[in-house]
Amino acid sequence: MRRMNDHTLFLGKFLTQLPRGNPIASIAPSSRWLSRTTVRNIAWDRVETLIELGAGTGPITRVLAERARPQCRAVVVERDHDFARLLRDRFGSLRNFEIVEGDARDLAALLADRGITQVDHVISGLPVPSFPRELRHALFRQVRTVLRPEGTFNQITEFAWVYWPLYRKYFDHVQFAFEPRNLPPSGAYFCRGPKEVP
Ligand SMILES: C[S@@+](CC[C@H](N)C(=O)[O-])C[C@H]1O[C@@H](n2cnc3c(N)ncnc32)[C@H](O)[C@@H]1O
Repeated sequence: MRRMNDHTLFLGKFLTQLPRGNPIASIAPSSRWLSRTTVRNIAWDRVETLIELGAGTGPITRVLAERARPQCRAVVVERDHDFARLLRDRFGSLRNFEIVEGDARDLAALLADRGITQVDHVISGLPVPSFPRELRHALFRQVRTVLRPEGTFNQITEFAWVYWPLYRKYFDHVQFAFEPRNLPPSGAYFCRGPKEVP
């Protein structure tokens, strides 16, 4: 039932946001398969801090909540008011998770406000390829400042491999994991070594 409701809410948001440049960018939440694949590189016994951007209805947040140790601090950011409220209902009771209704463009400030200077992973469900160039640059400038040297930027995508060159502009190393069990078949990029952004 919850899955059905999430799909209906998501599709409704997609359609209503379409005339405004569509910041939702997908017609359905990520499947359990894609959510797991997106965080499969994380060493759960070592991770201390992570941030999720563009959490939507929270399919990836759920995996984070299942796997993160109580000592791991997670900041979950979502711009849409209804999604943020839903996320707060679902995950707000977890002591180590904080749900923030906010914009990923304020990434560094959102972390600084919480006394966090560096994170182990940035998990992104953001529609990065459809961001205007300046916003993308601003995002990756901040990712560079907040990501620990060995940290990763994990990005979901519905277009397998297509955006590999895009992420290579911003990172020294980019790997892609294909997830055929999602509808449509999708995947995740794992990016390391943020480059200096002009
Ligand atoms: C493709 S959906 C992904 C949702 C979820 N992570 C999933 O995997 O199902 C993109 C999400 O990013 C959010 N979003 C878009 N632009 C954003 C921004 N600048 N800051 C924060 N969230 C944003 C949208 O509201 C939407 O929930």
